[in-house]
Amino acid sequence: MADLSVDFAGIRSPNPFWVASGPPANTGYQANRAFEAGWGGVVWKTIGDPIVNTASRYSAMHLGNTRIAGFNNIELISDRAPETNFEEIAEVKRRWPDRVVVASLMTDTRKNWHDYMKRSTDCGSDAVELNFGCPHGMCERGMGSAVGQNPEVIETIVGWVMEVAEIPVIVKLTPNITSVKHAARAAKNAGADAISLINTINSITQVNLDTFAPEPLVDGKSTHGGYCGPAVKPIALNMLHECAADPGFDLPISGIGGISNWRDAAEFLALGSTSLQVCTAIMHYGFRIVEDMKEGLSDYLDARGCASVTDIIGKAVPNVGEWQNLNLNYKRVARIDYDKCIGCNLCYVACEDGAHQCIDLIDPAGYGLGPGRVPEKFIPQVREADCVGCNLCSLVCPVDDCIDMVELRSEKQPMSWKEYQKRLADGDMDPIPAHP
Ligand SMILES: Cc1cc2nc3c(=O)[nH]c(=O)nc-3n(C[C@H](O)[C@H](O)[C@H](O)COP(=O)(O)O)c2cc1C
Ligand code: SF4
Ligand code: SF4
Repeated sequence: MADLSVDFAGIRSPNPFWVASGPPANTGYQANRAFEAGWGGVVWKTIGDPIVNTASRYSAMHLGNTRIAGFNNIELISDRAPETNFEEIAEVKRRWPDRVVVASLMTDTRKNWHDYMKRSTDCGSDAVELNFGCPHGMCERGMGSAVGQNPEVIETIVGWVMEVAEIPVIVKLTPNITSVKHAARAAKNAGADAISLINTINSITQVNLDTFAPEPLVDGKSTHGGYCGPAVKPIALNMLHECAADPGFDLPISGIGGISNWRDAAEFLALGSTSLQVCTAIMHYGFRIVEDMKEGLSDYLDARGCASVTDIIGKAVPNVGEWQNLNLNYKRVARIDYDKCIGCNLCYVACEDGAHQCIDLIDPAGYGLGPGRVPEKFIPQVREADCVGCNLCSLVCPVDDCIDMVELRSEKQPMSWKEYQKRLADGDMDPIPAHP
């Protein structure tokens, strides 16, 4: 069985799965339950001067039958006294010495950062995570994403923290920024040991059409919240890759954003995460999801012959690059498996109205549709010579593996846009004719 343990900035964790800072990591009671369920670490709900929260504070995007495809919150940091949080961290650490407990912190002045750092160290935290990401409420007070959006301020505050740091310092970054790598570089320049990303994304999930105010509703009004859950995974993966692929950026990264199962976890690892943090999926399904995550990841690693989870960390990073380096002579086309086709014609409509008009509707006679599947209408047939291989039909097709995107052997040598431009400039070739 593959070894799931990881070393994150010198902190040993029995597995890469950590509870992210948020409601599931609010108390010692919850941390104990998380560890009983098998989580490798807990990043405590952000500790700072206690705040006052609103009712209500959450909303969601449901998509069809999928509840909480995306989750939105206007909650602030911990509403509990810092001393209560630090005492509970000490108790949890005493009970679970082999697990990771990270104190998430947010405060303002240099003196206060020093004070919170000292208290986090004294209570036995394995590391601290600086919350430079909260996009609502705290940023209006000059903290959270107000810090994470300004590399100079990141450097200043991480610098203050490093003056007294005796345990690893993780800087949690905001996605509400044009390019996250400048923020990551600032954290590194100031001496941070690691980064984590992403915190939540500015969002309004819906407008209540009776009150004409967005949700979550607070006495007839609302405010923008922070978006997270499955919907944000693609954004998180891209930001993760931006940092992991940044030349010279070599700090470990804790990946966060929409992780709900072992596949998501493996994808984050492959794009450069060394540890993983989960919030929304726990709020939706409870701590027990970690069992399937560990088992699924372990089975996947065994099937690939990997002895350790570290074998896949960063494996996908070199396979993502700039558009200008992609091969323009690569050709793939859509091919329909008529044994699986149910004749819904969604692919036809999509290609006809939304792509390149290269699916024809053909009389089904003679196409060998499986028993019971012969539709009483025409069936789709791809004109391969005109298909541009965009994938749209295979994405709309409701039947798994019914439309395969097949690679066609090309007689032409691979050529990227960059090479194409050079060859044109050198007079080595004529321009590729525009599409009719
Ligand atoms: C209700 C709620 C409260 C949160 N509170 C905090 C917090 O106190 N500190 C923090 O760093 N992140 C906080 N987060 C952000 C999460 O740690 C995480 O970065 C984000 O939710 C993305 O992960 P997910 O998609 O697994 O939820 C909170 C998220 C939610 C949903
Ligand atoms: S979308 Fe799929 S199932 Fe529907 S007609 Fe096209 S190939 Fe057949
Ligand atoms: S891959 Fe794109 S162009 Fe080709 S058949 Fe499908 S929708 Fe049409």
